[in-house]
Amino acid sequence: MSTTISVPPQQLLERILTLEIVRVTERAAVSAARLRGHGNEKAADQAAVDAMRRELNKIPIEGTVVIGEGERDEAPMLFIGEKVGMNAGPKVDIAVDPLEGTTLCAKNMPGAIATMAMAEGGTLLNAPDVYMQKIAVGPGYAKGVVDLDASPADNILRLAKAKGVPASAITALVLDRPRHADIIAGVRSTGAAVRLITDGDVAGVIHTADPHNTGVDIYMGTGGAPEGVLAAAALRCIGGQMQCRLILDTEEKRERAFKMGITDPQMIYGIEDLVKGDCLFAATGVTDGSLLSGVKFRKDVIETETVVMRSVTGTVRLIRAEHRQFEKFHLD
Ligand code: FBP
Repeated sequence: MSTTISVPPQQLLERILTLEIVRVTERAAVSAARLRGHGNEKAADQAAVDAMRRELNKIPIEGTVVIGEGERDEAPMLFIGEKVGMNAGPKVDIAVDPLEGTTLCAKNMPGAIATMAMAEGGTLLNAPDVYMQKIAVGPGYAKGVVDLDASPADNILRLAKAKGVPASAITALVLDRPRHADIIAGVRSTGAAVRLITDGDVAGVIHTADPHNTGVDIYMGTGGAPEGVLAAAALRCIGGQMQCRLILDTEEKRERAFKMGITDPQMIYGIEDLVKGDCLFAATGVTDGSLLSGVKFRKDVIETETVVMRSVTGTVRLIRAEHRQFEKFHLD
């Protein structure tokens, strides 16, 4: 006798889409990786954009790019508002960063990734491409353990107390920028350690979700708003807390944000404000990094490593793939 298992169609589709988005970031990563170390950020980014767009258009979705390469007039591809997918299937919002860490890739330094998120239609924050203040910690803490408006030192002490360790056992990950001098000094004043990265704060935030393995407890600092939405999608899947505020310090930026539906320029966004619905997140390593291995070009095989997450279940999969049909990465 056969048993009928009833699965809501939306969920079934989402499960299938998990593997589809892996293909998208894999292809983008391989295309960018061919240009690792060539010193040409733009070319590497363009290669990743082309590949990502090609692959997205093979997926049975009605997708709208919400976080993309820029406004329609400044980005020919994967611009904000662009429709992607086969124009069939669920309506979804798409956030892409085809090459996160363009400089890392151009200089062949650790940590470049190809990344995207997909969420139920109308649920991703339409964030303008401006800076965003961010603070993030992993799962397992009471809500509000850290506070974007508290001092860096205060946040370290609160986190140390919640974790039950001395401040000296806490590590904060911070983008190495002059604008972060006060944050770095504040963290160090407590005895905590700072890990500096030159680029790549999507991965930076994700590191906080697994302090035991990454050695990172907290992310602090200002980075891109699009990267903030992508990182929030990942934390929505794996747990954790994030608080962010857009930096809308000119009239022009406030107007741009207003046109995207942002009426309160001071608003502090939590994960559930940045990503309101169920989502999927994927990232493939371009260069080797502490999160993912980079693309390996072997004689007969291209190897990729991808992390893919799904918020409905909180499942995180690490997919090490071997690709044999090389021509597919160029042509289709
Ligand atoms: P790109 O890949 O666009 O170069 O972004 C890299 C990055 O380090 C992001 O991870 C981060 O959010 C942003 O740049 C920080 O901006 P800036 O380099 O202007 O400080």
